[in-house]
Amino acid sequence: MEALRIYTEKPYRLKGEVTISGAKNAVLPAIAACLLTKEKVHLSNVPMVKDVETMLTLLGELGAEYQLKKKSLEIEVKNIASAQAPYKLVRAMRASILVLGPLVARKGKAIVALPGGCAIGTRPVDLHISGLQKLGANITIEHGYIVAEAKKLKGAEIEFDKKTVTGTENLVMAACLAKGETILKNCALEPEVFSLCELLVKMGARIDGIGEETIRIKGVDELCGAHHRIIPDRIEAGTFMVASALTHGDLILKEVEPTHLETIIDKLTISGARVEKLSRNSLRVIGSEEIKPQDVTTAPYPGFPTDMQAQFMVLMTQANGTSIITETIFDRRFAHANELIRLGASIEVQGDKAIVRGKTPLSGAEVVATDLRASASLVLAGLIATGQTTINDIEHLDRGYEKIEEKLRALGVRIERLKNNNNQSGVKK
Ligand code: UD1
Repeated sequence: MEALRIYTEKPYRLKGEVTISGAKNAVLPAIAACLLTKEKVHLSNVPMVKDVETMLTLLGELGAEYQLKKKSLEIEVKNIASAQAPYKLVRAMRASILVLGPLVARKGKAIVALPGGCAIGTRPVDLHISGLQKLGANITIEHGYIVAEAKKLKGAEIEFDKKTVTGTENLVMAACLAKGETILKNCALEPEVFSLCELLVKMGARIDGIGEETIRIKGVDELCGAHHRIIPDRIEAGTFMVASALTHGDLILKEVEPTHLETIIDKLTISGARVEKLSRNSLRVIGSEEIKPQDVTTAPYPGFPTDMQAQFMVLMTQANGTSIITETIFDRRFAHANELIRLGASIEVQGDKAIVRGKTPLSGAEVVATDLRASASLVLAGLIATGQTTINDIEHLDRGYEKIEEKLRALGVRIERLKNNNNQSGVKK
């Protein structure tokens, strides 16, 4: 198991520039969409993160040929050789479920492992399944696998009971090759859904209502190749924005999409930071000496992202007063709170709420990363925790943050990766 160690003689004040990578959550559905055509799809601004590697391994098993060079990815799926997404890959990355819709739509069959439990709570895929059933797929669960079959999917009207990002993406992709019109209601509004729809339109899909809650798709017989640039990662950007606010720093973020960051900008501004838009795709975040407490409730886009909740919790440990963080999307997404307490934070978890009492000095310790964003929050905490902070099980972080050590090192942080660190935190895994 690898670990990251941050050496903090005195809390850092981050200053400088950081370039934000392409969005993990946008590239994964884009890669899955390549299954819908036999022609080549070119994706640029691809983040070099572990989840991309996992998705490409999965596509390779399904028959794709691909080349990834300098953030530029070329994928061609002339034939779908296998319709099976094996458990080992789905377990490593839940977003593997994104191949379900495209496989049934193009191949007429998909056998995708059920994702099962997850560190951040129960994450069912019932809405993906019931949506595909409404499109005419016959679905059974056999030996832990979703087995979906349909000679030809048929357009239908489907209303999601709950907003689901990958659920919306799966059904939009499936509907592109269905016969007739599909109307999807209560769709997720995340920019990553928007970006996927844009790619599909470039591939020849007929989609109306992109970026709205109701999306209409007129099925076509075939899709073609396309070029598409992956949008900037708003969660990576948000993480560095919090880093600047937390360390009373002065960071310039390049290659961002400010319109995707409005809720995060609002929250940081209320906490006292100054956020300046420097250009169409760059922002400056200047942390204030005093961080103000505030309550945060996670919600689907354009609400405050659950993927920023852990990072914001760290910021609130340094606020002058008490903040209440309410998690409404996932039911067990507070594992990082216990690790932050080990570093000296005062946090009390009560059901879906975390009560954070600031301001408490943090001191370095060994901690364990439990999921992707929890890991990011521990890295942030390490920037202000005096002494050494060692974050174990860092592979979670590698799933979604490209070159985070290099980016932090360039901002003056002393950080190193330890191979085979023997977890000394006393925390059982
Ligand atoms: C996506 C993101 C993830 C983010 C999450 C919420 C990707 C690859 N991942 O995950 O980073 O944290 O959105 O913004 O884009 N639900 C059901 N039944 C379903 C599907 C979802 O009940 O069939 C529930 C979930 O348990 C959760 C809520 O809906 O409570 C939202 O989940 P969803 O938007 O589907 O998350 P993901 O798409 O898995």
